[in-house]
Amino acid sequence: MHLRIQILILIVTCCIALVESTFIVPSILEPPKANRIICRDSRIEQQNANIIQNELQNQEQTPYINCVNNAILKISFANLQISTQSSCPLQFLREKDTSYFTCDTNNFANSNVTNVIKLLCDGKEKCVFNFNQLPVLLCIDQNNDIFELPIEFMSVQLTYNCQTPRRRFRPFSNKRYDTKFTQNIKNPLKTLSYNNLHKVF
Ligand SMILES: *[C@@H]1O[C@H](CO)[C@@H](O)[C@H](O)[C@H]1NC(C)=O
Repeated sequence: MHLRIQILILIVTCCIALVESTFIVPSILEPPKANRIICRDSRIEQQNANIIQNELQNQEQTPYINCVNNAILKISFANLQISTQSSCPLQFLREKDTSYFTCDTNNFANSNVTNVIKLLCDGKEKCVFNFNQLPVLLCIDQNNDIFELPIEFMSVQLTYNCQTPRRRFRPFSNKRYDTKFTQNIKNPLKTLSYNNLHKVF
């Protein structure tokens, strides 16, 4: 009798633990998002262009963004912006002869490049692109005149994550995220009633 009670307590504890552990919401499984500023790098872009032009089979193009261990990129947000000395110091060293100017009004057009970067990078392990594949960042000044900002000083503020393949092979069923099963999620303790447990014994 004493043993039966102990076993019962053990089973109830296990069941509660099981319900709690399988009650993970999908967002917890999402890898954390990374925030990065990607500076246009004229040297990388030249090298990549050279590899393509000369069909150098044994050389790989350098990506602007990459994941490791077969994880794939998922872009959440990408904003095209004019660089600053602190965000992209290399640009200022290399482009000494290019005139740098900002947008006094901070009124930009074409700055949201989320869709373009998504098309270029989503689902890939490494994302190689060229800044001339992005729209030209425009500034709208006080007189509503529109002018182009220099590509030499462009950067992209990026929010993304690397999704590991493991996530697509979850060890437990996907059923619980199915809308058909929401009733069970709302009443997870229904199957834990004393009566049901009693039947087991
Ligand atoms: C940027 O564009 C994407 C896709 O069109 C949109 O979902 C998102 O809300 C935009 N973000 C901002 C801050 O405008």
